[in-house]
Amino acid sequence: MNVPDAAAPLHAYLFADPAAHSLSPRMHAAAFHAAGLGGTYEARRVPAAELGAALASLRAPGVLGANLSLPHKEAALPLLDDLSAAARAIGAVNTVVHRDGRLHGDNTDAPGLLAALDDAGFDWTPGAQAVVLGAGGAARAAVYAALVLGEQKVWVVNRTPARAQALAQSFPAPDRPVAAAPAADVPWAEISLVINASSAGLDAPDQTPLDAAFLARLPAHALVYDMVYKPRDTRLMRDARALGLKAENGLGMLAHQARLAFAQWTGAEVPVSVFVEALGADGVPA
Ligand SMILES: NC(=O)c1ccc[n+]([C@@H]2O[C@H](COP(=O)([O-])OP(=O)(O)OC[C@H]3O[C@@H](n4cnc5c(N)ncnc54)[C@H](OP(=O)(O)O)[C@@H]3O)[C@@H](O)[C@H]2O)c1
Repeated sequence: MNVPDAAAPLHAYLFADPAAHSLSPRMHAAAFHAAGLGGTYEARRVPAAELGAALASLRAPGVLGANLSLPHKEAALPLLDDLSAAARAIGAVNTVVHRDGRLHGDNTDAPGLLAALDDAGFDWTPGAQAVVLGAGGAARAAVYAALVLGEQKVWVVNRTPARAQALAQSFPAPDRPVAAAPAADVPWAEISLVINASSAGLDAPDQTPLDAAFLARLPAHALVYDMVYKPRDTRLMRDARALGLKAENGLGMLAHQARLAFAQWTGAEVPVSVFVEALGADGVPA
């Protein structure tokens, strides 16, 4: 267990700006309780200019680490002592782990997504291809996850094509290429997995990142995974289900990335159901 001194109070943080609406405090409070550890998790609004000082404060005894969210996920990279392979490849850190005065940067979004896909019953088949919608930090984690999964080719489709191009070019995987394309150029019949990693649909029940006409070209076994979880049923998910396709929202990923961060901080393997239940029906509007 990565607990510096079992008698000392344990602390973990979220550094973000804004931070007030995060669902992470309730998940980690439930996890500390379930693990039988007396610990606190506090969401702190940290403006970009104060990230260095906030990270330095994590080196104190009793501090387990922190989650990072917008706008710090990329900016933190050069400020940490070492990085996991996932954090380096994705170019973003969402979890900082404090061990003996050193700060280790990791990214639990990609393994969190993989665990959520597994829970959703995603049945990977050799030769399959994936589509990632979006070109921000979440899309980078999604592309990385799709490559780990073994997808033969990953298509990046984004509202601003130049950003999709830049993302695709930054993943050197010649054997399993990452390509930017407009939706019209994607071979939809070959696609087994569509991941919405754009913020289209977030707090916008009628907004979708993808015209339903493209969903209609997907094979029947394809899974549509929407990282958005507010609302719980996005327009993309509703369109996919209306076509008989399987669709899931991003709550599972949110819960799993938290579970994985908590395990790194404390060594405690708390079941994902604890994190899911902590999100509660009231936390995320239906
Ligand atoms: N479930 C989870 O655990 C989890 C984890 C991480 C992120 N997320 C979610 O993933 C989403 C993206 O996060 P991020 O950090 O990558 O954000 P980001 O860096 O701000 O990127 C946003 C992306 O969404 C695209 N976009 C925004 N509005 C759009 C619209 N109306 N139509 C089409 N595309 C649109 C942007 O396109 P342009 O390039 O054209 O601006 C950009 O590619 C957010 O909704 C976030 O909540 C969920």
